[in-house]
Amino acid sequence: MKCILMNKNTEVLVAEYDEAVKAFIRIIEVKNIHYAPYIIEGIYEEGDENSNHLRTNLSEWFKGRGIPSWRDKLDLLLHRLNIDTPSELLDKAFGLSLSDQYWIKPYGSNITYDDVNFFDNDFDYAEFLEASLSLNSKVVTKEASLKTPNNTTDGMLKKAWIIEDGVRYLLKGGYKNEVLQPFNEVLASMICDRLGFSHVPYTLATYKNMVVSKCPCFITKDTELITAYQIKNNMKRFDSVEDYEAYIQKLEDEGINDARTKIENMYILDYLIMNEDRHLNNFGIIRDVNTLKWVDVAPIFDNGQSLNIEDYNEDEVVTSGHGRLFYELKPFDEIIKAVKDLKRINIRALDDIPEEFDKLLHEYQHITKMSDKRIYRLCVLLDRQINNLKSIIEQAV
Ligand SMILES: Nc1ncnc2c1ncn2[C@@H]1O[C@H](COP(=O)(O)OP(=O)(O)OP(=O)(O)O)[C@@H](O)[C@H]1O
Ligand SMILES: [Mg+2]
Repeated sequence: MKCILMNKNTEVLVAEYDEAVKAFIRIIEVKNIHYAPYIIEGIYEEGDENSNHLRTNLSEWFKGRGIPSWRDKLDLLLHRLNIDTPSELLDKAFGLSLSDQYWIKPYGSNITYDDVNFFDNDFDYAEFLEASLSLNSKVVTKEASLKTPNNTTDGMLKKAWIIEDGVRYLLKGGYKNEVLQPFNEVLASMICDRLGFSHVPYTLATYKNMVVSKCPCFITKDTELITAYQIKNNMKRFDSVEDYEAYIQKLEDEGINDARTKIENMYILDYLIMNEDRHLNNFGIIRDVNTLKWVDVAPIFDNGQSLNIEDYNEDEVVTSGHGRLFYELKPFDEIIKAVKDLKRINIRALDDIPEEFDKLLHEYQHITKMSDKRIYRLCVLLDRQINNLKSIIEQAV
């Protein structure tokens, strides 16, 4: 299929997409490389149209928009959707997503962004939601169920976009039989609220007797999420705290206000909840897709993999843990050293957080079946982190 890669209303390039192999097989013309996905613009060199370089990177980027191979229960989802690979979903809805404005327009067609985008146009999500999150689901029957932004979600957890009162919400379940992730998301929101950190507000919802997290879409028709992975792709790699410093510098150079404070906030949160999963696709910046101006640091999102979720042990409170600082895996006590200004944090605002979390976990215990012992241990761990940070702040100069 000859098509145009679009960024909202701007033509980026003309290419041939092969639906059978799910890849771009020819770049015909580059029209506006600055409006290309950031990672593609970064690797582009003059004359690339005729080389494999741009074509293969573009295919890779497009494939990366699909549901990843490491999605929890992917086999089951594919079976229910009656397809063999996630790539088969990519061209079913023009490759549109709710995290950016890229889409693939058939060449010569007069379809417009307004006609097809999922921010304005409703989508059928009931069957996909069931296929994604339900324990027992039938095979999806309606073709319309595959015309959704659910074809282009990233991440390991089972998830689905839904619409309620016109708002697009992302529902996320737990990993395998784990039930803690949604609660950790809500805990992170509670902490961010108290400390005044910009964040995606997560709440709890129940779906078929399962507790899931629910958050509104933080992207609008005029913005896109560019993850740190894309930003870092073209930057020098240090494998040290220099990666962090260079990232902040880049954001400041692009005109983002208070970039350092906002990035620090994320690592302070990660310390408090022991978030192990701050990989480079779990944070980023918001760019205006019309002006290409970097608008802000993205609100903090995806905080579920926390509180030693994988290391729970009935016999002891496991207090050690490692977080991520760009390319490095390090103990949380090491990572927090990268944060320059801790004195501004009103840590007393977190005094009742362990108690609040305890209440929340008990409130849903009849569904989650989480043991009293585990709830107690989670709150002890949280309390310990808050107190540790208190001491670090007191000692800070
Ligand atoms: N509220 C939102 N609005 C817009 N896009 C979002 C929102 N939440 C998540 N996303 C996009 O969806 C992707 C997957 O979401 P998220 O990171 O929460 O899932 P996950 O399965 O927990 O990921 P991981 O594999 O990192 O554990 C994010 O990387 C981001 O691109
Ligand atoms: Mg994620």
